[in-house]
Amino acid sequence: MAQINPSILSADFARLADEAKAVEGADWLHVDVMDNHFVPNLTLGVPIVESLSRATDIPLDCHLMIEDPDRWAPQYVEAGAGSVTFHVEAAAAPVRLAREIRAKGARASMALKPATPIEPFEDLLPELDMLLIMTVEPGFGGQAFLDIMLPKIRRTRELISKHGLELWLQVDGGVSESTIERCADAGADVFVAGSAVYGAQDPAQAVRSLREKAER
Ligand code: DX5
Ligand code: ZN
Repeated sequence: MAQINPSILSADFARLADEAKAVEGADWLHVDVMDNHFVPNLTLGVPIVESLSRATDIPLDCHLMIEDPDRWAPQYVEAGAGSVTFHVEAAAAPVRLAREIRAKGARASMALKPATPIEPFEDLLPELDMLLIMTVEPGFGGQAFLDIMLPKIRRTRELISKHGLELWLQVDGGVSESTIERCADAGADVFVAGSAVYGAQDPAQAVRSLREKAER
């Protein structure tokens, strides 16, 4: 079953509670946390995640594009996130961090930038509930999908199967009605979409169309 996670990066930040309601039927709400260091953009932090988690029933999928996630990620679990994704490029101790996120009661997830290969992390997969393969360079919404990531998605799906893991495989960046089928064919099962959802006339309808395409 495909999961569709609208990214509020493309929503109106002054009306986040309403923007969450606008995507009823979505599986998770994807919250992009950026610190202006790990990526050249700044978005939001713990207090807004805390408020948003009270304002919506949709569980929050927090994607931390920040330095020192070892220090900050646990606070996002306490703020109400149901899933917390840290970047392996920024984590000092990814195994310890994944265990801490799980111990605090959230799903632990690790993200790879486009130039980061999956192979060195094969042995870490059992520690994770989800792996995120970025299909754009992180930092901004509305960028073009990187087709060259499809082989990495495919190889990751093979590793997940080989080890018999339950782990979800998420893609983020440039996912739209014209790219989602390629991601699903390659083995992704969780799809983040920002501009394709919040740029649409009817965001809830966009979620339904994306799901239909992913499950075709
Ligand atoms: C990019 C973010 C994405 C972004 C995706 O760094 O991690 O979640 O919102 O936006 P679209 O779907 O427009 O590429
Ligand atoms: Zn994201």
